[in-house]
Amino acid sequence: MNAYIKSIGAYIPEKRVTNDELSKTMDTSDEWIRSHTGIGSRHIADKEMNTADLGVKAAEVALERAGLKAEDIDMVILTTATPDYVGFPATSCIIQDKLGAVNAGAFDLTAGCTGFVYGLEVAKNFIENGSMKNILLVSAEMLTQIANWEDRNTAVLFGDGSGAAVISADESGVSGIDDTILKADGSGAWTLERHTGGVVHPYEEGKTTWADTALFMDGQAVYKFAVKVNAILITSLLERNNLTIDDLAWIVPHQANERIIQAAAKRLKLPIEKFFMNLEEYANTSSASIPIALNDMYEKGKLKRGDKLLLTGFGAGLTYGGSILRW
Ligand code: UT7
Repeated sequence: MNAYIKSIGAYIPEKRVTNDELSKTMDTSDEWIRSHTGIGSRHIADKEMNTADLGVKAAEVALERAGLKAEDIDMVILTTATPDYVGFPATSCIIQDKLGAVNAGAFDLTAGCTGFVYGLEVAKNFIENGSMKNILLVSAEMLTQIANWEDRNTAVLFGDGSGAAVISADESGVSGIDDTILKADGSGAWTLERHTGGVVHPYEEGKTTWADTALFMDGQAVYKFAVKVNAILITSLLERNNLTIDDLAWIVPHQANERIIQAAAKRLKLPIEKFFMNLEEYANTSSASIPIALNDMYEKGKLKRGDKLLLTGFGAGLTYGGSILRW
């Protein structure tokens, strides 16, 4: 028996901010952002929404497409870098309550932008060891809330959004999550961090500034790491499953930067057309970017049951991970 992605859903906030609009309030330009990242716009959630609200919206779509009710869910796993509260309560518990998933457990999983890939493997194991029937894997992010809007190096890169998948057992033998690599390199932890607000650097009255608590990134270090690990993940997953690029319908990478994806494709001499990209519209939505991409592909009719997909993610931690699955 294989665990598989039974359904996918996503939610994108309506408010869309183009690069040109950003450049009215920031020292940047459409030309710079497009040429360095491929990003054309990002969506920003309303102030009265929070990460749990975004997660609930995507989850409702996934549940409906799975033909399941919230009561049918055994576990809610939320991946996020932007929880509603610091440490506790887990934002997944708020999602569980808002959905009415009264029979479910809930926990948050922190693996930066690789969260969805980590979550998929965790969910797969709950299903395949027989302890659970239906898992709701939600990836919801409000990066625009923790971006430092005075730092053009980072603020232009991120957007808000959420994706959700129902993971269940496939009885047909057509679909499955076949192989996964999950890795970390904590020596790069400080290249992508929120410095203040945790136990090591707590908030200090009169001393802590907003910028101390915002997202900080050493862009070039993360860029090099991303190109390297994308290439490792793709090569390793293909090799150890005796597959070639022709066996894959799509590679679905974390949607951070078109140049990272192009560099990995070039390094491996792979056709860029195999890589699904939608970051021009949504920018980097952290762990939500892969399920948002899968949802776009699903809605555009690009996914058939049994299609082989290779997912790759990388992000804060630093973490990286990839999966081969049959849709
Ligand atoms: O989900 C994981 C998250 N992270 C990532 O995926 C990010 C990985 N890194 C990157 O994608 C790239 O490193 C960036 C897009 C962040 C930056 O691109 P880059 O080609 O490495 O640019 P840079 O940092 O070397 O900056 C080049 C110049 C600098 O000006 P000077 O010092 O050469 O005069 C920056 O100040 O570009 C300037 N710059 C900007 N200019 C206009 C930086 N950001 C901007 C901006 N608009 N938004």
